[in-house]
Amino acid sequence: MSKVKDPSLAPQGQLKIEWARAHMPVLERIRTRFENEKPFRGLFMAMCMHLEMKTAVLGQTMAAGGASVAITGSNPLSTQDDVAAALANSGVNVYAWHGVTADEHLGNLLRVLDHKPHLIIDDGAELSVAVHTQKKELFGHVIGACEETTTGVHRYKALEKDGLLKYPVIAVNDAYTKYLFDSQYGTGQSALEGVMRATNMLIAGKTVVVGGYGWVGRGIALRAKGLGAKVVVTEVDPVRALEAAMEGYQVMPMDEAARIGDMFITATGVKSIITKQHFDKMKDGAIMANSGHYDVEIDVKTLRETAASVRSARQHVEEFKMKDGKRLYLLAEGRLVNLAAADGHPAEVMDMSFADQALAAEHLVKNKGKLQPKVYRMPLEIDKEVARIWLDSYGLKTDNLSLEQTKYLSSWE
Ligand code: NAI
Repeated sequence: MSKVKDPSLAPQGQLKIEWARAHMPVLERIRTRFENEKPFRGLFMAMCMHLEMKTAVLGQTMAAGGASVAITGSNPLSTQDDVAAALANSGVNVYAWHGVTADEHLGNLLRVLDHKPHLIIDDGAELSVAVHTQKKELFGHVIGACEETTTGVHRYKALEKDGLLKYPVIAVNDAYTKYLFDSQYGTGQSALEGVMRATNMLIAGKTVVVGGYGWVGRGIALRAKGLGAKVVVTEVDPVRALEAAMEGYQVMPMDEAARIGDMFITATGVKSIITKQHFDKMKDGAIMANSGHYDVEIDVKTLRETAASVRSARQHVEEFKMKDGKRLYLLAEGRLVNLAAADGHPAEVMDMSFADQALAAEHLVKNKGKLQPKVYRMPLEIDKEVARIWLDSYGLKTDNLSLEQTKYLSSWE
């Protein structure tokens, strides 16, 4: 059973899925093993993720492992209707279309949960928040959940802290093979790609202000610098601000950065990073985009309310004419610019993140009944295994510690 925008788009979506699959060798190896071992036989898996081509490959990998899969999108603008149609064609239950309203999104989450899942693959803790508020009958039934992003891990940890979490969660986001690569290089490249596709503007010579120097922020700063931008970083954490300064970026409060920035990209996971006090100081023509999980980092509501007029300037670009005649531009409604205005992370990077997801789900099943209702870090051996397979897939080899070296490392003398 599926609910997608247009099933006739499936052939075009199928080509995208094949393209992604051809560039995800780690997941391919896992899929081959899953086909033989069927670790999810008889289990139902619920997924809430950005529904584009790489995610479809993950969904099909889980199905190859014997799971019955139901999926919905995790952001109104990141679902690609052709991919959704192709995935539905392949036997996965898909409830997703581009541009869902908040009510439709909730309806789709509940539809996915109506399948009574044993396993949850979440991006932003959306499914589990719905379970913990509206589908409590699933307590005791769900074996566990895996979480893809920083904001979702924060939400799961808040549930745990309040003593409300009812099943174990693996913070896939916190695996080395996730955040060091996906959050940094994946978002770094794709966020700039989103900005460039939306605006078709030159980055070289521009002052690009990056809000937050976490894993996502440093990736964006790195790629903006590589394209010739003068990068300014805003931070609240002194250590991270120091890292940014040592990397050669200017560090200053957003209040100051607002005056000099040509482009602003937020990546903090925190609300109200760019607000009216900053809009007031910005230059004519300033461009704003967000790469954090939710559309709360730029105060879009106030921007709309205080603008004299608003019009669509290009696809994914809204022009806000302010009362003093200044024009400000907002990309992708302030939602994840890399997924809304581009195709998200490159497949080679999502290969690692989704290999982590597949193996974390398998770990939950293997350890059913042994784990507490807590947020767990990804087991290190799985993390290293993913790195090992990735290196091997690209013909890269490492050295190995000799016995003598191992002995040296474990000695105190
Ligand atoms: P992180 O926790 O490593 O970094 C966030 C940084 O923002 C921290 O250094 C923090 O000190 C800083 N920050 C917090 N409040 C701030 C403020 N008021 N002003 C300036 N800086 C502030 O988190 P990470 O992993 O970099 O993720 C950031 C966001 O991006 C999250 O919402 C995450 O879910 C999302 N994300 C988005 C992806 C995408 O595809 N667009 C991919 C991965 C993560």
